[in-house]
Amino acid sequence: MTPNPQDLLDWYTHNARKMPWRVGPKDRQNGVLPNPYHVWLSEIMLQQTTVAAVKDYFIKFTALWPTLNDLANAEDADVMAAWAGLGYYARARNLLKCARLLRDDFGGEFPQSRAQLEKLPGIGPYTSASLSSIAFDHSETVVDGNVERVISRIYDIHTPLSTAKPELTALAAGLTPKLRAGDYAQAIMDLGATICTPKSPACGLCPWRGACRARSAGTEHELPKKLPKKTKPTRLGIAYVVKRIDGALLLETRPESGLLGGMLGWPTTDWGEAPQEAPPIRAEWRSLNEQVRHTFTHFHLQLSVKTAYVPLDRPAQRGSFVASEDFRPSDLPTVMRKVFDLAYKT
Ligand code: ADE
Repeated sequence: MTPNPQDLLDWYTHNARKMPWRVGPKDRQNGVLPNPYHVWLSEIMLQQTTVAAVKDYFIKFTALWPTLNDLANAEDADVMAAWAGLGYYARARNLLKCARLLRDDFGGEFPQSRAQLEKLPGIGPYTSASLSSIAFDHSETVVDGNVERVISRIYDIHTPLSTAKPELTALAAGLTPKLRAGDYAQAIMDLGATICTPKSPACGLCPWRGACRARSAGTEHELPKKLPKKTKPTRLGIAYVVKRIDGALLLETRPESGLLGGMLGWPTTDWGEAPQEAPPIRAEWRSLNEQVRHTFTHFHLQLSVKTAYVPLDRPAQRGSFVASEDFRPSDLPTVMRKVFDLAYKT
């Protein structure tokens, strides 16, 4: 038996997850399409991030910036602060670049074709396909981690994931329908997220259970095959938390390029094997006993934390003082938030 896309669409009609940016299958079948700005924003946020983590950020962003033009006209620092905690901050920088390019060169509208979308900042093969299909119902094939898992099981593909991508993409494309492409893209991702899960898939509830080759072969738990993970190195650094006697805190906006680019944070040393002291201001430093640990995509970070109090007239070599009433810990990326929490033991 071959998997029938219509069976998945029928399942989705009754089982679609509710999401704040989603137009459900019943409304879509009545001709309602979602706001492309909402689809784009949610799909950028959902890269490397779960639906649960994204929901509140999506609601905050659309409350602060209800339209694409509002976002394009926002201050960089406000957008980076609103993104703080979501991680992968290059996404937020590209989000702004993309919004401004669309404002300036596209009359504030998204192009509809996958090829045009893929030329925009921050939009790769996944997002161009998801936006073109979900926002405009173009018949494009979306391949994310959920889809890779579903397809590798349906066709019982044992090639490890990174190598198998072209094959899985071709098989997925063979199933993508011409009509209801937007529903279909969301249906196959929902199937992967709720039924065809990494552990203990609920095969008994799957609309494609009769066609699933892995299920027939009893291999669903082994798939998709993955190459062994590389072990992450540990980098060390020192973070400096400086409070002035009026309560102002010494913060620094990190350079645009590189990790946490454009984000607000405490001045730190470089992160490496043996960091050299780089205090941002002359002060008497107190070293905290505990360290902050945080894991990035390619390494673990261990930060020692040093704190100091300084008088009003002490000039800083790096960073600038932010008055206590203008400082919100929630504007900091998670690792910097952990430093703050340790320094002030919240
Ligand atoms: N994961 C990422 N985007 C999604 C979407 N539009 N529907 C379901 N899961 C998703």
